[in-house]
Amino acid sequence: MTLPPVIAIDGPTASGKGTVASLVAEKLGFHYLDSGALYRLVALASQKQAIDPKNALELGVLAKKLVISFKNGQILLNSEDVTEAIRTEVIGLRASTIAVHPEVRRALVGVQQGFRTAPGLVADGRDMASVIFPDAVLKVFLTATAEARAERRYKQLIAKGISAKLSDLLQDLQERDARDSSRGAAPLLVADGAQVLETSELSVDQAVKTVLDWYQSKIS
Ligand code: DC
Repeated sequence: MTLPPVIAIDGPTASGKGTVASLVAEKLGFHYLDSGALYRLVALASQKQAIDPKNALELGVLAKKLVISFKNGQILLNSEDVTEAIRTEVIGLRASTIAVHPEVRRALVGVQQGFRTAPGLVADGRDMASVIFPDAVLKVFLTATAEARAERRYKQLIAKGISAKLSDLLQDLQERDARDSSRGAAPLLVADGAQVLETSELSVDQAVKTVLDWYQSKIS
């Protein structure tokens, strides 16, 4: 039996991969997995339970027993709506810290692979192409300069009425890039066979179109 096709889109924080991946999924009528949300959920739950971000064993146990559901754009953690709560910079940083532990990563493998259902899946994260879906039909490494990403994040926050400082955002995301890229377990990297998409100078529409064109050329 052939498994449904997967498009893996990996890249650094605030690269716009979530926006591009969800639009590509919508165009193709595919399911969408935001794997970063899972790490953010573990981060939020561990913060609520005051678990030390260095305690790999306890975090692994916690990650295994979380009851997570994605429903109509809402993210529920043990039936509580945490859609907004997982998007803060503090939770993003904590997610990056707890994601270094192989115990946490292992606990989330099955959940992520469970999203692969017909007619297909677009998955975004750091290790979609290298670890979770190594047989993805198309592997994209979507990136932009740190400055372009900090500016995008800044605009998003300001639009939401959240005050932010561009220099702090730039520093935070450089810190996260360094941690996500240098960790031993499933580091952020350009996977074998991945096509690099530099989006600093591209609009969202142009990035989406490029991914769709690449996918068409893979399947035709
Ligand atoms: O994509 P994001 O910014 O929501 O992800 C939050 C953190 O989760 C990121 O800094 C690293 C971690 N993460 C990961 O290690 N592997 C993934 N596949 C997705 C996210």
